[in-house]
Formats: sequence, C-alpha cells, structure tokens
Amino acid sequence: MIVGAQWGDEGKGKIVDVLSESFSVVARYAGGHNAGHTVIINGKKFILQLVPCGVLRTACRSVIGNGVVLDPVAFLKEVAALREAGLRVDGNLFVSNRAQVILPYHRMIELAAENAPGRVKIGTTSRGIGPAYEDKMGRRGLRVADLLDLDLLKRHIENAVHEKNMIAHALFNSEPLDADKMYAEYAAAAGKIAPFVCDTALLLNRALDAGESILFEGAQGTMLDIDHGTYPFVTSSSATSGGAATGTGVAPNAIQYVIGLTKAYCTRVGGGPFPTEDKSEAGQMLRQRGNEYGAVTGRPRRTGWLDLPLLRYAKMVNGLSWLVVTKLDVLDELAEIPVCVGYKVDGKKMVEIPAQASGYEKLECVYQKMPGWKTSTVGLTEFGQLPKAARDYLAFVEKETGVNIGMVSTGPDRDQIIVIDDFAKEVQTASSPKG
Ligand code: GDP
Ligand code: IMO
Ligand code: MG
Repeated sequence: MIVGAQWGDEGKGKIVDVLSESFSVVARYAGGHNAGHTVIINGKKFILQLVPCGVLRTACRSVIGNGVVLDPVAFLKEVAALREAGLRVDGNLFVSNRAQVILPYHRMIELAAENAPGRVKIGTTSRGIGPAYEDKMGRRGLRVADLLDLDLLKRHIENAVHEKNMIAHALFNSEPLDADKMYAEYAAAAGKIAPFVCDTALLLNRALDAGESILFEGAQGTMLDIDHGTYPFVTSSSATSGGAATGTGVAPNAIQYVIGLTKAYCTRVGGGPFPTEDKSEAGQMLRQRGNEYGAVTGRPRRTGWLDLPLLRYAKMVNGLSWLVVTKLDVLDELAEIPVCVGYKVDGKKMVEIPAQASGYEKLECVYQKMPGWKTSTVGLTEFGQLPKAARDYLAFVEKETGVNIGMVSTGPDRDQIIVIDDFAKEVQTASSPKG
C-alpha cells in the first residue's frame, strides 16, 4: 500500500506507476477528484484524479473503491481523456457500486460555506468532497448503485435539491439549483458509468483468493487525514492506511506492507499548520525547482523543510514498513539543508503531535543543518551514484524515523528512480502469485 506521509502531493502517482508493473490490480480507497496524481512516462504527462494510476499499464486492472466519493461528470471526463490518449479503460477499470456520488449541490454548499463570514477557511479544492462525505456519514448520500436506479435517482435528486436549496438560501443566500436539469444530466451520466460498476470488494477479494496482488493507491496524505491530520485543516476522508481496509472491503490482515511517501522536503496546499514552512527565498527556491504548484487547482504550494517528528507520527499511525523519498533532486543546489529533528514548547521537548491547530502555533522547530551535495542527482538510478552527502541525508532520515528507505526518486519521469535491493525483493515477494 502507498500512503502519503505528509500533506499530499508526495509523488504517489509516480511511485504507484513504477510499482504497478508488478501488481495485478491497483485500488483507490479514499478521496475523490481533489487528488491530482502526476505520472510522466518518457516525457508524456498524465494527471489522474479519480482513476488509479494502474490504468497506465495494460496488464493492470484498476478499482475505484467504496471509500471514494465519485463525481460522475469528472469521472466521465477523465475516462474520455484516457481513451483519447489511447489507453484502455473498458474492461479493466471498475467502480464500486457502494462509492458515494458527488452532486452539484455538494459544490454549491462547499463554495458558500468556505466563503461565509465567521467560518474557518480550509482552502479546499472546491470539488464538493467535504459535503459529499457529510451526506455519507449523515446516511442521506447517494451511492453509485442508487445512481443507476433511475427512479430512485429522480426521487433522491428531487428531495435533496429541495432541502439543499433551502439550506443554502437560508444560510448563504445561494441561487437555487434546478432538480429537473440535474436529473437529466445525471441520468445520462449513469448510463455511461453503468458498464464500469460492480461489487469491487468481491472483485478484490476474489483476486486475492486467486493469488493475485493488489496495490492500494492512497490519496492526500497523513496530515490531511480526517482523524489524524491537522484538523480542521484536513480533507474529509481516512487518507491513512486504515482507510484502505474500510475503503475497499479488503480486510486489514490481508494488507502486507505500508509504504509511506515523503518528499525530501515538505509542502502543503491550502490553509492550516505547517511547522517547517519557509517563506524566505529558500522556500521560494524549493517551489521553483520542485515546480510546486497544485496539480488540481494550480495554486502555489507552500514549501518548507523535512519534518522528522511528523514522519515519526506518520510511521506510527500508518504502521509504515518502508519509506520512499521523492524529489531528492530538488535539493541539489543547496549548500546546507535544514531538517526539523524535534519540537519544543516553552523550551521543553515535545514528542506528542498537537491535537489542535492552535497547538501548532506554540511549537518551536529544532533544526539540524545537514550538508548539501551541490551536484546534480537528476535521473540517477543507482544508490551508489549518489553523492556522499545525499547518502548521508537519507541515512539520517532512516535513523531518525526508524524506517528504511526503499526507493529514492530523482526526477518526475518513470525511469528516474533508485530502487534499493532489499525493497525490490520484498515487492517481488508481495506481488508474486501464491502459486
Ligand atoms: P501525488 O498527488 O502524491 O501523486 O503528487 P503530485 O503528482 O500532485 O505532485 C508531485 C509532483 O512532483 C508531480 O509534478 C511529479 O511529476 C513530480 N515528481 C515526482 N517525483 C519527482 C522527483 O523525484 N523529482 C522531481 N523533480 N519531481 C518529481
Ligand atoms: P493528492 O492525492 C494536496 C487539501 C486541500 C485543502 C484540504 C481540504 O494529490 O496528494 P478538500 O477539497 O479535500 O476538502 O480540501 O486538503 N488537499 C490536498 N492537498 N494533495 C491532495 O491530494 C489534496 N487533496 C486535498 O488543498 O487544504
Ligand atoms: Mg497531488
């Protein structure tokens, strides 16, 4: 399983793409089209939002699990773009009949709420993700299976639009949405989505029974997790490893390895605490060299330094078996690299991660300056080719987190990757058929 160990955008798309060569199925378990997973193959760029990155490998099946919130219009748009790029989606892309559906009123409510006076502004991706998960937990959501049941869809839209229009008007003075128009659009979308829909929990468990291997593709990251992240500046789903079981219907004890992804530094998009944020020129350099602009919204990402206390926390809440470090090349020109090795509050060492956003304001980061390597690592594929200072940097991360590094990414392209032998062996074991 691949999970983001920071605030998302760690390079999950690229790493899933690299690893998916060895797996039969790739499954998304949480989030929606708030995710933007970039894969670059021989210079050709794909940004996947809902569809798992396994779709780029013809031998791989891709599953959108029940934990995902699916915007039918966004899904069909992505499918059309993939078809246009010559990729096969028919017969190898599956959508859970239990996934929740995002409808236009979710976006309406989110937009109005985000801009309402007195509300905490989260800086969401404005995709309707939060309100769709609210309806799921409130037991008034529409699932994909219900979308395909046109009588039920009609009744659901009529009732929900009536209710949401009243709420949005009363609270935010929003313009009402038209239920008939919405039904016509979503009934048409339902017809196009139907061929992709099945009981994906059954599909995944049958695949496991047949000795096939599954790679779980996390979206967002640990610090955006609804429970474990920097609440309320989080997304509305379980982005951590626990979400993979509930979000797909594969039991936790069937999941062998959890691979945590971290950049060699840190970024976050949107509001909320970010202890190691660097707003100086050095931070701007990270943004420039790392091309740190949101894959979904194009917003400039906030940048800062590697935060080891947060990585240790990510190890704990996800049960990380391995770390993968991406974007090492972005640090190539630095003479010194600050790394946060601990937090202090009122001069006292702090090992706990604050539960409240306000708790982060009191944190003082303790930095250690690591020597830079001032030479290009772009495209290196062997650990031994890395300059000594880069190897020392990685060894320091391993020592401080207690998690071994399995891969190091040295550029955005599929081939720009260093794979450590022991990790390759373990992936081989995890992905080879049981016999
Ligand atoms: P995801 O959401 O975790 O899949 O990550 P994103 O795709 O949103 O953001 C990661 C960005 O970094 C993308 O533009 C990738 O092409 C790029 N990227 C991934 N790995 C590397 C790397 O090792 N070096 C560099 N320079 N860019 C990388
Ligand atoms: P990937 O999968 C980075 C952030 C948003 C916002 C907060 C809540 O590409 O790593 P939401 O629309 O989910 O309600 O927004 O979460 N966010 C992400 N940041 N990468 C992502 O996904 C994100 N998905 C949501 O910027 O701060
Ligand atoms: Mg992303």
